Amino acid sequence: MKAKLEFPAGFVWGTSTAAYQIEGAVTEDGRGRSIWDTFCHTPGAVLHGDLGDIACDHYHRMAEDVGLMADLGLSSYRFSISWPRIQPQGSGQINQRGVDHYRRLVDLLRQQGIAPVATLYHWDLPQVLEDRGGWPERSTADRFADYAAVVAEAIEGVDRWITINEPWVAAHEGYTLGSHAPGRKDLRAGLAASHHLLLAHGRAVRRIREAQHDATPVGITLNLIPVLPATNREEDRLAAERVDGYHNRWYLDPLFRGSYPDDMQGLYENSTLLDFIDPADFAEIGAPIDFLGVNYYSRTAAQSLAASDGGDATELETTLGAATARRPELPVTAKGWPVEPAGLRDILVRLSKEYTSVPLYVTENGASYYDYVDPEGQVKDPERVAYLRDHIAATHQAIRDGADVRGYFCWSLLDNFEWDDGYSQRFGLVWVDYSTQRRIPKTSAHWYARIAQTNCLTTGGERDAS
Ligand code: FCB
Repeated sequence: MKAKLEFPAGFVWGTSTAAYQIEGAVTEDGRGRSIWDTFCHTPGAVLHGDLGDIACDHYHRMAEDVGLMADLGLSSYRFSISWPRIQPQGSGQINQRGVDHYRRLVDLLRQQGIAPVATLYHWDLPQVLEDRGGWPERSTADRFADYAAVVAEAIEGVDRWITINEPWVAAHEGYTLGSHAPGRKDLRAGLAASHHLLLAHGRAVRRIREAQHDATPVGITLNLIPVLPATNREEDRLAAERVDGYHNRWYLDPLFRGSYPDDMQGLYENSTLLDFIDPADFAEIGAPIDFLGVNYYSRTAAQSLAASDGGDATELETTLGAATARRPELPVTAKGWPVEPAGLRDILVRLSKEYTSVPLYVTENGASYYDYVDPEGQVKDPERVAYLRDHIAATHQAIRDGADVRGYFCWSLLDNFEWDDGYSQRFGLVWVDYSTQRRIPKTSAHWYARIAQTNCLTTGGERDAS
């Protein structure tokens, strides 16, 4: 059956990218080195030894890429600012050419009527700051607050500031698991990183407000992962509760309730993992924000460690007493992430019911599939269309269920450098041929453009998946 889902007037339709994933030009115009430059050049760190040195060459093709967005009729663009372009040494001296680059980008977007949404940190920490201890060090939060003030003073015309993208991933993958830069594998370092990322966020909120006289809304983007118990046994239910604490509540509680959740704080204190918290930090972390960005890709399932078959549990699994449960019955994307649109509705509604009344934006949602250019030169991606359709419908359902969602940003505008997966994962609405840098909008790009232009999603029609 066909259904027409209209979105509230003024709903924002955009796409998201991140500096390191698309820009390339890593040694140009005075840019300093970031932890991702170092990581990519570490043998074995990134699949196939792929590097971000060129990526989508967006640094040089910015005008063309803004033109693509204009052709699609998108109303907003979420990009990130590369800290080492602005402060090559991580502090002090400002690199004017870096500032000018983002001023140009903001101007180009404004000329096309596309609202710029700028993220200040999408994981490219200046290497010099990592050399001084990185995010597990409190001083990195001070450096970030200074950088935020520099950017907010220098760049005008941004519609919204997002301080930090996904502090959980930055801490967990970067410092606990080591699958992302800087590749450290230490739970205590990961927890300290999470705390200092949150502190950095809170301080940046204050500094941006001071620099811009409260003119521009400021928020943060979290990746929230609903956690299901693997079975309805009590031990799995409790394991799921702890994994939810690790992924979600550890970030949401200090942002909106002024402290870490008691159960998680107790758990980590028992393992003497928390020696970096000053109780005064919570007043800074909880600085009021104007909106919350939510990145959603899928849910996860947890089981009690005792019930899992893992003999070689990691330090994290042992501490949480929980392990991820496999769910082979679910459809997955090329990245192996389960496709679960209902989780997006659930998390948006949960946020409104349990945490906050600030407006919510879906700042990332999307999927990688095995796309290819067909003999006619087209990229047909019906799986992505179906994925986006179901998640946009879930967003609509969340609004009907009371969540104040104001916008949706598809990840991503372009195929790009997908971190430790290199170029193997294509998330773009637009295909990128990395050998020629030619862009080809996929079927999903045209499909998404229609939604953006009409502010309405039609489900149930054959056209959706064509
Ligand atoms: C998110 C990241 C983004 C991209 C997508 C697939 O966690 O914020 O940069 O890698 O996943």
